[in-house]
Amino acid sequence: MKNIVILISGAGSNMQALVRAAQQENWQQRYGARIAAVVSNKAEAKGLEFARAQGITTEVLPHQGFASREAFDQALSALIDGYATPGQPVLVVLAGFMRILTPAFVERYAGRLLNIHPSLLPAFAGLHTHQRAIDAGCKFAGATVHLVTAELDHGPILAQAVVPVLPGDSAAQLAERVLSQEHLIYPRAVAHWLQSA
Ligand code: GAR
Repeated sequence: MKNIVILISGAGSNMQALVRAAQQENWQQRYGARIAAVVSNKAEAKGLEFARAQGITTEVLPHQGFASREAFDQALSALIDGYATPGQPVLVVLAGFMRILTPAFVERYAGRLLNIHPSLLPAFAGLHTHQRAIDAGCKFAGATVHLVTAELDHGPILAQAVVPVLPGDSAAQLAERVLSQEHLIYPRAVAHWLQSA
């Protein structure tokens, strides 16, 4: 069994889309894969409630308790690796996990660490992507699923979705339009990764 660990920091709507896809498409039978745990660096992350209600193991690892980024990432790795099964390393899926990861962490999960970012990378890495797209006068925006590499919001692109930026859009309106596409492309990209693993 290939175990998937999903990392969240907030609402977890992408995580919910992944959980629903795994159920509806029977990833267990199809890919020998299951979502083994949802991990958050924030105890108050809304998504944890949904995961618990689905009977998925949840873990909270508050980053404030660690003296350095390295120490937090080491503890996170230990927690994640606890879900490995013999001969089957864990697939780590970042779903609104708002922490910059250390190069050592990224290296450890090279090729099996996925992220979704709310812009058409390589444009608008970092934060406030929607406002920046509006301010730049972009006619289109979107989201990108990519393999994580040491450079923030870079790495091989696995999937993208494009949405229009409409006249008068607020960042929140654009974010909502992009997010609805994220919920479609992330499960597809993870399923594709599992299929080719
Ligand atoms: C999503 O829009 C995701 O792309 C973004 O945070 C949101 C999380 O929403 N991620 C990043 O900005 C990472 N750099 P969710 O918690 O409802 O899935």
